[in-house]
Amino acid sequence: MSMIEETRTSRPERPDFSRHANHAETAPAFLSVWDLHAYYGESYIVQGVSFNVHEGEILALLGRNGAGKTSTLRTIARLDNPRLTHGEVWLDHKPLHKMAAHQASAHGMALVPEDRRIIPGLTVEENLQLAQIAPPIGWSLDRIYTLFPRLGERRRQEGVTLSGGEQQMLAIARALARDIKVLLLDEPYEGLAPVIVDEIEKTLNIIKEQGITTVIVEQNAVRALKLADRAVILDTGSVVFDGTAKEVLDNAELRAEYLAI
Ligand SMILES: Nc1ncnc2c1ncn2[C@@H]1O[C@H](COP(=O)(O)OP(=O)(O)OP(=O)(O)O)[C@@H](O)[C@H]1O
Ligand SMILES: [Mg+2]
Repeated sequence: MSMIEETRTSRPERPDFSRHANHAETAPAFLSVWDLHAYYGESYIVQGVSFNVHEGEILALLGRNGAGKTSTLRTIARLDNPRLTHGEVWLDHKPLHKMAAHQASAHGMALVPEDRRIIPGLTVEENLQLAQIAPPIGWSLDRIYTLFPRLGERRRQEGVTLSGGEQQMLAIARALARDIKVLLLDEPYEGLAPVIVDEIEKTLNIIKEQGITTVIVEQNAVRALKLADRAVILDTGSVVFDGTAKEVLDNAELRAEYLAI
């Protein structure tokens, strides 16, 4: 049974905004996520998630608290938890579903988690150098500091002493220090002032111009939708909408039902 049929049969009472492509329709997508099912222990969390992302696109992955956004990103990045039991993740024709996290990373998948994971005791520059300790090496430090001048100014400062916005920049910069194809961002704007969000948004547009594909998970759905080309909305671990970001911004019913905005 396809995802679309499953959604329709299991939840007929809800409007069905799900009309995402069947696997073949837009293939080969650059990043193709197909019918992912994943568990934390016995808890069935990711319940048949499928979507495609084209090269150089920004996709907003949205949904209410607990909808399964973080779990979906972790599954795509091939972390151990939640455990993938079924489904496929293809990146640039490579089967990531057959790989461990470090192999997926070596093939260009980068996850910037919500807590940013800046390494204590290391300067900004050392955090970046550590990312380049093994191939594939991405952007040079000069190129990174051109994109993030504040990181250049603070390169001798301990990373964890930076402001929240600067730490987020460092987390993104550390991903770019490796040769990546896809950037998965989990709540990059969380806790940041609007003026800092503006700055990060500008950077994400520049990263897009450089050809990197981005999936952004954000509670600040309106900001994410204004940045994104397309949007996928999750609800209880399943896709309930797949379309353009503009369609979501223009659809009050959809926003009220799944995003509470
Ligand atoms: N480590 C875990 N073990 C068991 N259940 C978990 C674990 N992490 C998350 N869950 C559950 O999985 C579901 C999806 O969580 P997830 O963190 O993926 O949602 P989310 O959409 O990212 O939510 P939020 O907007 O709050 O970040 C929730 O019901 C959550 O309680
Ligand atoms: Mg989350």
